[in-house]
Amino acid sequence: MTTAAATDAPKSSSVETPKSPDRLAITDHRTGLSYELPITNGTIRAMDLRQIKVAPDDFGLMSYDPAFLNTASCRSRVTFIDGEKGILRYRGYPIEQLAENCTYLEVAYLLLYGELPNKRQFQDWEHSITFHTMIHESLKKFMDGFNYDAHPMGMLIATVAAMSTFYPDAHNIQDAVSRTKQTYRLIAKMPTLAAFAYRHSMGMPYVYPDNSLSYTENFLNMLFKMPSETYKPNPAIAKALDVLFILHADHEQNCGTHVMRGIGSSHPDPYSAVAGAAAALYGPLHGGANEEVLKMLSEIGTKDRVPAFIKEVKEGKGEKRLMGFGHRVYKNYDPRARIIKKIADEVFEVTGRNPLLDIALELERIALQDDYFVKRKLYPNVDFYSGLIYQAIGMPTAAFTVLFAIPRTSGWIAQWQEMLLDPEQKIARPRQVYVGPEERNFVPIEKR
Ligand code: ACO
Repeated sequence: MTTAAATDAPKSSSVETPKSPDRLAITDHRTGLSYELPITNGTIRAMDLRQIKVAPDDFGLMSYDPAFLNTASCRSRVTFIDGEKGILRYRGYPIEQLAENCTYLEVAYLLLYGELPNKRQFQDWEHSITFHTMIHESLKKFMDGFNYDAHPMGMLIATVAAMSTFYPDAHNIQDAVSRTKQTYRLIAKMPTLAAFAYRHSMGMPYVYPDNSLSYTENFLNMLFKMPSETYKPNPAIAKALDVLFILHADHEQNCGTHVMRGIGSSHPDPYSAVAGAAAALYGPLHGGANEEVLKMLSEIGTKDRVPAFIKEVKEGKGEKRLMGFGHRVYKNYDPRARIIKKIADEVFEVTGRNPLLDIALELERIALQDDYFVKRKLYPNVDFYSGLIYQAIGMPTAAFTVLFAIPRTSGWIAQWQEMLLDPEQKIARPRQVYVGPEERNFVPIEKR
């Protein structure tokens, strides 16, 4: 609990070093009063600032933090990132170890339940996911209604939102049994929706889920099987996709997850919240960057045009960006990009080398030596190489962000549940600093 209190400190401009290391001393020079605020986990509570007033009827001090550059909105046990050191851990496990040793479904279980499953738990979990992959025929008809050239991400967002109308039991968000059921449905059906969106855009008939296949094999089968031919997903491609799913499963309080928690805080069903989170992911500054990277590499076209492109980015002063570079949190190499670079080699052994890879490698080489990028600590992020792999396995560029949304669903649900069960959380509602006109009187239209 808060123990901060105003003290009748001398009206001086210097603040004495606090005796306790876990307290922050503040002197308000407007009043000369001093305060001590407790520091917990390297944070002060913003609400503790409200006692700092210039008069009894003053609202109290607030912090101003557009885009949440320095504001923690929750305590979380799910994902840890050290952006300076380039560390990413899910529930304490380094991402490198999970990518090396686990399947995506094991990692999804870990994110949701906090521990890796034992054999029995995993069998039950895998069975529950496998037996929820079918979608309602009316949902299929709903997808048929989209135009032939509808963006697959737009289709996915709208169809996940529509799922809310198919499962009215999902509104019982306080019921753990209902939450578990919706978790199975969401994780199981996202690949089906994604594959159907892709097939719709290609004008091809939908392929129904096949319960004899693994999560990623089934997804590849729904994407690429021709009705007239047998199809066997390539194990190396299925494995690579599975690792990509692990790398994309969660990333603490990023834009999409923040939206998931924000929408979830007003207590709608999880389908509505996932639709909102997916909409945030769609943006080119977030998950949509993988699509933009491929467009950028194609526009550059040849390796020798890389220096000119870098020059344009630098001269654009933020207007033109090197897509797939930079991150709000990572100020070092994104550990996921390092793993993806390795997977790319494995995939290209099967599919043949993506010719855009040479341009990407040259871009990375030049950017990492250039003062502009070095000074701003801009390194390749998860999206810089993922698109090259998706393209090599036959996905059209427009479907890339959908491939991000599938695994991120497990992270969204883990974070949503954590938010719902956290007694400190309430409906999310930031404050503002109003800078508009003062009160003024209405003027009739003929006098304006
Ligand atoms: N290319 C060129 N310059 C850049 C880039 C970039 N990719 N990213 C940041 N900068 C520059 C900015 O212009 C700014 O320069 P300034 O200090 O001279 O004004 C500085 O670096 C800091 O950038 P901000 O925009 O303040 O950093 P922020 O943390 O807000 O942005 C973001 C992070 C959105 C990821 C940004 O780096 C970006 O737009 N990258 C390209 C898009 C991208 O790859 N997004 C995917 C991120 S990973 C994910 O969401 C899955």
